[in-house]
Amino acid sequence: MSDLVGYETEGRVAILPIDNPPVNALGIGVREGIMAQVDRAAADDSVEAIVLIGLGRTFPAGADIREFDQPTLEPHLIAIVDHLDTIEKPIVAAIHGTALGGGLELALGCHFRVAVPSARMGTPEVNLGIFPGAAGTQRLPRVAGLDHALELIVLGKPVGAATALEYGIVDDLIEGDLRAGAVAFAEKIIADGTPRRISSEPRTGIGSPEDHAETIEKYRELANRRMRGQDSPHQAIDSVVDGMTMSYPDAVQADRKRFELCKNSDQSQALRYAFFAEREASKIPDIGKEIAPREIASTGVIGAGTMGRGIVASLADSGLPVTVVETSQEALDNGMTEIVKLYDGMVQRGRIDAAEKDERLARITGAVGFEALSNTDLVIEAAFEDLDVKKQIFGDLDKVAKPGAILATNTSYMDIDAIAAATSRPEDVIGLHYFVPANAMRLLEVVRPAKAAPDAIATGMALAKKTGKIGVLARVCHGFIANRSRLPMVREATFLVEEGASPAQVDAVLTGLGMPMGPLAVSDLSGLDVSWRMRQSLADQHDPAHRYMHLADRMCELGRFGIKAGKGWYSYEDGGRRPVPDPETEAIAIEVAKEQGTPRRDISDDEIRERCLYAAINEGAKILDEGIAARASDIDIMWLYGFAYPRWRGGIMFTADEIGLPEIDQRVREFHAEHGKLWEPSPLLTRLAKEGGAFTR
Ligand code: CAA
Repeated sequence: MSDLVGYETEGRVAILPIDNPPVNALGIGVREGIMAQVDRAAADDSVEAIVLIGLGRTFPAGADIREFDQPTLEPHLIAIVDHLDTIEKPIVAAIHGTALGGGLELALGCHFRVAVPSARMGTPEVNLGIFPGAAGTQRLPRVAGLDHALELIVLGKPVGAATALEYGIVDDLIEGDLRAGAVAFAEKIIADGTPRRISSEPRTGIGSPEDHAETIEKYRELANRRMRGQDSPHQAIDSVVDGMTMSYPDAVQADRKRFELCKNSDQSQALRYAFFAEREASKIPDIGKEIAPREIASTGVIGAGTMGRGIVASLADSGLPVTVVETSQEALDNGMTEIVKLYDGMVQRGRIDAAEKDERLARITGAVGFEALSNTDLVIEAAFEDLDVKKQIFGDLDKVAKPGAILATNTSYMDIDAIAAATSRPEDVIGLHYFVPANAMRLLEVVRPAKAAPDAIATGMALAKKTGKIGVLARVCHGFIANRSRLPMVREATFLVEEGASPAQVDAVLTGLGMPMGPLAVSDLSGLDVSWRMRQSLADQHDPAHRYMHLADRMCELGRFGIKAGKGWYSYEDGGRRPVPDPETEAIAIEVAKEQGTPRRDISDDEIRERCLYAAINEGAKILDEGIAARASDIDIMWLYGFAYPRWRGGIMFTADEIGLPEIDQRVREFHAEHGKLWEPSPLLTRLAKEGGAFTR
């Protein structure tokens, strides 16, 4: 028998501790163990109640996701949950850490649930492309009511123990030692003769979908809005609705088929891949856990522009003191005013209260001049994107920063090796590339210059974690991983407009893939002048054999900078943000095409999809081949968190594997022949296509 579930007794109570680190996932060994030990307790005459508890950091955090690719071995979790209904002795789930997915379903199978106040519980299965298939969709509505159950099941966000108590999911909160509290709770149940609560009762359906039409519709809409294109939230709702009209056993039966379909779907495969890719990203092949990050107790930010302010807020939001430095009192005052506005906005939207705003603002100090940074553990430069300006800043910073301070640049594409060389301590210089708005976007691209010390890199990754971000490592090259792999998509989008597609057609194809906005609408939002300035600064490095983005330049020359100018690829009426197709854009495209000798034609949606997506994939393959990214999944995480690529497609490299590399290689070669050097095929793509290999498997 499995030894992952123990058997101990305290008086009349049997305690079954689950011991399967790190998260007590309900793999086959744990399932076998629970079944056997529950039966042993049921047969033990000295036992009158049972406590199920997790050892280590948590109650089971769900099924073992790694087992999903293999046939599920018996006993299935649903069999255990249903079996608990038949045990005559009261069973108490004692919850700490996170009771998630199958973990919460197991707890729902127990007759009572107690939790420590810090515990969190929920059903995050939709995030893996499945739904709570061990009767969670049937039992949770019976326990918590339809609205709360749908909230947990459809949105997939865990709730804290206090909310769980309010929802009726837990019966009591235990202050102090959980095990002792749970045993005392069980003793009281025995003493009071409290009848067991069976969460599969009533066994009949629990209401009519018509009576609850409004609530059901509310969650359908929320699912459409928050998880656009994703099937599992709707499957989850269908399952809950089944439970209204069917008896419990029939609904569970229907769930089995639906669950298998979901589990085997492409979306679930992609979402499970993304789950592990995200965790993998934090592991740096040559920097093990033995390399401790440097201690960061104080931080500084140079520059209070849009990016600098977002970084300041991100640091202050995580409890870190920040000194923000500007070159003049006026610039500093402007920056500080905008930071206050940012927090006022959060209070208005109900994100934080006034007291929290004051606390966060109290962590922010403004100063003019670098001397204020002389005692700071980590400084992030967020100045203008100009290499000479940045070298000057790092040279000056080098003179005042304390020994061992991390000196980071937020550049989004520049040569950080050159910036590091402007200091006497290149080992302390790293890149921390934030995305706008830096306080909200979860991606942090940690860039590793050639001379950076391992513990400086470890510190960058630790900072990401501390500030609630996903840190992904990149080596130095123009644009690093994120911007370098996205540029070809934007480039092709603009070429396609020059060749005859409308911006709306191009964007519609990409939103059709599940991205919330197309690349041209995004350019309008972030400002076309940003990449225009970059092209200007790199003009002397332009390879004449590379096709140039003349149309994008012309848009800027005509002042069409995007939303802020009221016009860009689209026009924006009355200061609004809704893109309206603009015939002037077509006229400009026709003019530029004529000047460049570009033939205009009807362009198919397939061509748009292939050119935008395959250009990015081909670049991703080069980034991987050159070692700029440690693994293909790191590129994917950049796309999921940096560019809102649909998680249920895994990322561009995962999508490439799904499509098949021979197909992509073939099309890249055809585009190369047709459109020239920018389409030079990645040698890695070609090799893997020939060998039958893949990027992500
Ligand atoms: N199955 C397998 N491995 C898991 C796992 C699971 N359910 N949950 C976490 N792990 C692994 C992680 O991959 C990671 O492994 P490595 O150290 O090798 O990278 C390790 O456990 C620790 O995880 P985290 O780094 O994520 O630790 P954390 O403390 O930041 O977060 C957590 C802990 C909140 C539990 C988080 O891991 C999490 O959200 N896990 C997934 C929870 C989930 O989705 N549960 C539902 C599963 S599906 C299900 O249960 C369906 C069903 O009913 C049949």
